[in-house]
Amino acid sequence: MKLTVNGVEHEIDVDPRTLLVHAIREQVGLTGTHVGCLTGDCGACTVVVDGQTTKSCSVLALSAEGSAVETIESLADGDDLHPVQQAFWDEFGFQCGFCLPGMLLTAKELVESTPDPTDDDILRAIDGNLCRCTGYNTIVAAVRKAARS
Ligand code: FES
Repeated sequence: MKLTVNGVEHEIDVDPRTLLVHAIREQVGLTGTHVGCLTGDCGACTVVVDGQTTKSCSVLALSAEGSAVETIESLADGDDLHPVQQAFWDEFGFQCGFCLPGMLLTAKELVESTPDPTDDDILRAIDGNLCRCTGYNTIVAAVRKAARS
C-alpha cells in the first residue's frame, strides 16, 4: 500500500490487520507516535488524518491509503519548535513525555479551531489524552499559552 505521512509517500507492505500506529512506527520508521493502551483510551497514538486527530491504534493502516497522515514529527522545523511545543516547554506541560505527542497534536487542533479556549474547552479537548504525571494543570496552562501565541 501507499501511505502518505508528513507529506512523504511511502510504499509499504502491511498485513490487512496491521494498525495504522504499527505501520507508522515499524514500516515508516517514525516512532514519535506512541503505543499505549491499544484500545482507543489513552491517546498516546494520536495522529492527524486528513486534518482530524485520530487514534491510530483504532484505524487499520489500509484504511489510511489515500489520506494525508501527520505525526508529531511534522511539528518542529529543525530545532525550531512549533508554538504549541514551545508553550508546553515553557509551562512544563509534560514530565515523562509519553503522552506528549498525542497531547500536542490534540492541543494544536484545538487552538487552530478555537483561538481563545476556556479551561473547560481545553479539558474537553484533551479528555481522550491521558497523562499520568502532570495532574493536567500545567497542560491546561500550556494550551492556554499556545492559543495566545
Ligand atoms: Fe491508541 Fe491508547 S494506544 S488510544
